[in-house]
Amino acid sequence: MNGVAATTRLPGFPMDRQCPYHPPPGYTDLRAEGPAARVRLYDGRVAWVVTGHADTRRLLLDRRLSSDRSRADFPVLVPRMAASKLVALVGMDPPEHDVQRRMLAPSFTVNRVKTLRPAITRIVTERIDALLAGGPVADLVPRFALPVPSTVICELLGVPYDDHEFFEDQTRRMLMATSTAEQAATASGTLVAYFEKLIAKRIDDPGEGLVGTLIRERLSTGELDRTQIASIVMFLLVAGHETTANMIGLSILTLLEHPEELNELRQDPHLIKEAVEELLRFLSVADELQRVAAEDIELGDVVIKAGDGVYLPNASANRDAEVFPDPDVLDLRRDARPHLAFGHGVHQCIGQNLARAELEIGLQQLITRIPTLRLAEPVETLGVKPGGSVQGIYRLPVTW
Ligand code: HEM
Repeated sequence: MNGVAATTRLPGFPMDRQCPYHPPPGYTDLRAEGPAARVRLYDGRVAWVVTGHADTRRLLLDRRLSSDRSRADFPVLVPRMAASKLVALVGMDPPEHDVQRRMLAPSFTVNRVKTLRPAITRIVTERIDALLAGGPVADLVPRFALPVPSTVICELLGVPYDDHEFFEDQTRRMLMATSTAEQAATASGTLVAYFEKLIAKRIDDPGEGLVGTLIRERLSTGELDRTQIASIVMFLLVAGHETTANMIGLSILTLLEHPEELNELRQDPHLIKEAVEELLRFLSVADELQRVAAEDIELGDVVIKAGDGVYLPNASANRDAEVFPDPDVLDLRRDARPHLAFGHGVHQCIGQNLARAELEIGLQQLITRIPTLRLAEPVETLGVKPGGSVQGIYRLPVTW
């Protein structure tokens, strides 16, 4: 790391948001430092933060940056990550990564997701029926934003939704920035054990969903063992509901806070696809992509040394004025497609088609069926999840 001697006053990282739908204010100062700024992690280690869109995009394609979380020099963003077993796919480098990716990709193609749209529509409809039957005031986090993606990913995987309270709770313990390494390790161990048991029960009759497919096509051939399948399924379940749930909740809040944009979307239902892309850019809920440099990398006038930790916060790249004019303005009609909310390169989100379908169907139905939807409490009272977690809000009380 260059200039380590002069690092005493470096800003801490991760940074917290003050407003749930804007990046941490500290990102503006990091950007002013140039293409990469130095920050200090909780354990005292110094790491780089890359702030611009072009550099982030280029570096996410650069093989000299490693995602291998089993490396001793992989940076630890928050204590919980020191012990997490969440290493399937996203924590691996090619060629091991590519082998797993190829096994899973057919379950997430555009065409496969098309076949899931009727099920997603049914799940969304049932949730809104229940909301309307219960009447206001309702908290949309537990009543809508969380159960929709949680039910969808259970159907896709073939995991019983009846166990949702158990795995949602373990996921929270594993992913919350405030969890200790021990709490996170216990939660991920508990989840892997749950899936190993589920797989054992399915050996003779694998059944529907991706769990069944992996048992039939990969366990019997010896390509994967039970523990590998359990950790892949755990990762898909966690990645599949936590990110999308936060994205649905924050999208509703953001639309309610931008009534003109919301009205435009109500008037023109064809706008929904662009609206979802802009919300993905604007909200960037899966911020802080993390890597370690496997070799020296020059970036402008700095050299990222082999062994240095590197963070690529997409909430910074997605507010780069060079690519998105007036980046802090929510504009549902802009071309937000170059956003990096799903990452880029070999690790680009495998579930992005599914997430888009859930957002399109969920948001459209909600705003159409409940046209008078509004916040029941001021946004300032909702609380913001700390940096180092998937970004979102804990609760979303609404009335109509
Ligand atoms: C990877 C964001 C929904 C599964 C990623 C990455 C991002 C991301 C930024 C790249 C991480 C990196 O490069 O380090 C999101 C957002 C979502 C979402 C914002 C919702 C709005 C989903 C869903 C699934 C999923 C529904 C379904 C199972 C995955 C997997 C990876 C991944 C498996 C790792 C891919 C790999 O390493 O090859 N996601 N995701 N995500 N996501 Fe998503």
